[in-house]
Amino acid sequence: MAGPSSRYGGAMFHDIPAPVAARMAELERRDAADRTDGTPLLERLRQIPPETGRFLAIVAATAPDGPIVEIGTSAGYSTLWLALAARATRRRVTTFEILPAKVALARETFTAAEVTDVVDLVAGDARDGLETMTGIGCCFLDAEKDDYGDLYETIVPRLAPGGLLIADNVVSHADTLQPLVDRAMADRRVDAVVVPIGKGELVCRRI
Ligand SMILES: C[S@@+](CC[C@H](N)C(=O)[O-])C[C@H]1O[C@@H](n2cnc3c(N)ncnc32)[C@H](O)[C@@H]1O
Repeated sequence: MAGPSSRYGGAMFHDIPAPVAARMAELERRDAADRTDGTPLLERLRQIPPETGRFLAIVAATAPDGPIVEIGTSAGYSTLWLALAARATRRRVTTFEILPAKVALARETFTAAEVTDVVDLVAGDARDGLETMTGIGCCFLDAEKDDYGDLYETIVPRLAPGGLLIADNVVSHADTLQPLVDRAMADRRVDAVVVPIGKGELVCRRI
């Protein structure tokens, strides 16, 4: 295991490994294409943009000890950003995906990008898998927006002290997610802020 001096020390963006960079570029092309070519919603990758990936990696790398968790893998694009943080801080990412076709794509991604040493892909509903997890250092929530309320209540008690929850799309889907933002702002278990990067990220820090 890493000693204290290396805990926060590794670079993430200056030397992205070639297999990671190549798979990120490929997924960025596929995501851009399937937003305009008529691909049905459930088959689309619906990825975060690269600037959100960088933001996520920095937040995850500065989170307290504990696993990095992701809810909503799709083809594994956001997971690759989290994997950079996991590798830099000697941790692991556990990512949950409910759709078998997406699980297969994500498996392809993690093999091609050579990150299977730091990524655990769990096939199934995150609500089941999260039940056994505690002391989470950082959790990225990017699933169906109607489920965010339930998932928020499942995640917050499982965060480590100082642990971070980042929820995507709170600006782009404000019609659905503003009640969750309001709830987080009033929730005395966390400090919360909305960061207007990408589709809008709700960041909550467990008190
Ligand atoms: C917006 S996409 C995720 C995009 C991905 N985070 C990225 O940026 O590359 C949402 C994904 O969450 C998955 N999903 C939805 N509800 C889920 C649940 N309860 N547990 C696990 N995965 C879920 C969907 O199948 C879909 O692939």
